[in-house]
Amino acid sequence: MTDSPATRGIDPALLHRAAARFADRFPGPAPRMTVAPGRVNLIGEHTDYNDGFVLPMAIGRAAVVVFRPRADRVLRGHSVAYDETREVRLDALTPPGGHDWLSYVAGVAWAFADEGLATTGLDVVVDGDVPIGAGLSSSAALELATARAMAAATGLAWDPVRMARLGQKAENRYVGMNCGIMDQFASAACEGGKALLLDCRSLATRPAPLPETAAVVVMDTGARRSLAGSAYNDRRAACERVVAELARRHAGVRALRDVTSAQLEAARSGLDPVDFRRASHVVPENRRPVEMAEALAAGDLVRAGRLMNDSHASLRDLYEVSCEELDAMTDLARQQPSCFGARMTGAGFGGCAVALVDAASVGAFCDAVLAGYRARIELPAALYPCRPEAGARLVD
Ligand code: GLA
Repeated sequence: MTDSPATRGIDPALLHRAAARFADRFPGPAPRMTVAPGRVNLIGEHTDYNDGFVLPMAIGRAAVVVFRPRADRVLRGHSVAYDETREVRLDALTPPGGHDWLSYVAGVAWAFADEGLATTGLDVVVDGDVPIGAGLSSSAALELATARAMAAATGLAWDPVRMARLGQKAENRYVGMNCGIMDQFASAACEGGKALLLDCRSLATRPAPLPETAAVVVMDTGARRSLAGSAYNDRRAACERVVAELARRHAGVRALRDVTSAQLEAARSGLDPVDFRRASHVVPENRRPVEMAEALAAGDLVRAGRLMNDSHASLRDLYEVSCEELDAMTDLARQQPSCFGARMTGAGFGGCAVALVDAASVGAFCDAVLAGYRARIELPAALYPCRPEAGARLVD
């Protein structure tokens, strides 16, 4: 169980803990297990719901689901993190559910049924080591690990793109969080060793291998902000207002993806100044994932890092979703000579940043940044180098 391709990159202690908890809570015939990774987005922030491009990679931190089908229509779940067992009837699931751990599991079961797919009762233990609320997509990981389990239990062939959409539907409609497709797509479809350039309109992908000389370091500020949900919806609404105005002026504009910088500038006087600022982040940010994938392919880490720095400045000054802790962490990272670039990652307002670092100097980089951060901010920060891992898998 500990050294197969299916478990590569995952902490073996996590798999053992989840399996042991299942044996303890739901004794009986041997269960099966799925894992689905969290993700870090290298660039392309707040572009997915604008039909744009993103460049995430799956990380070694993951959600784990241990499961065994039941003969009835009950979904009985145990969460290791919350140490609680609860159950729901599959045929009584109606959105909206809630925001608790069981809603992510139940939401996926609901989305299966809503898509006309077969569902079965299950006993499940859910566990994981993606920090919750840190911008590394712990919820998408849980949704995809659940989807992988439900697919395996019902004999459905695994289709990562379909399952990413289904996970997003569970989150949008059942959990009630209006996210884009990036997180579920990354957790479903990433490949080991590569970031994934995703066109969020067509869902076309291109693998973006990381040069051996580059290391990706996730930098958790320790800050957690509950404001993220409402601010996220505000940002989406601002983008939609700009699209409505630009669509009046130009045929063919359906999303900010379709808007050029010149068109946005020309429409400026007809737009609310704050809305204009928000769109002024999205339009150039939407080009950066394509440019960064090109830079990585060419081994041009200096250019890749510069794009990350530009992205951070834009998120901080124009989209206004950074915060003191993310700015401090990324400033400290950039002060290290081994750092090519750094930016916040995910929705913002706390959580994690990401740095591109010379692989030969990762240890010294982490020590210096962590020491600097601790001297300035009293929060439980953590830094971890990450390799790109594979998407949701069945561990058999
Ligand atoms: C969250 C959402 C994603 C995406 C990012 C911002 O992670 O779940 O869909 O919008 O924020 O890029």
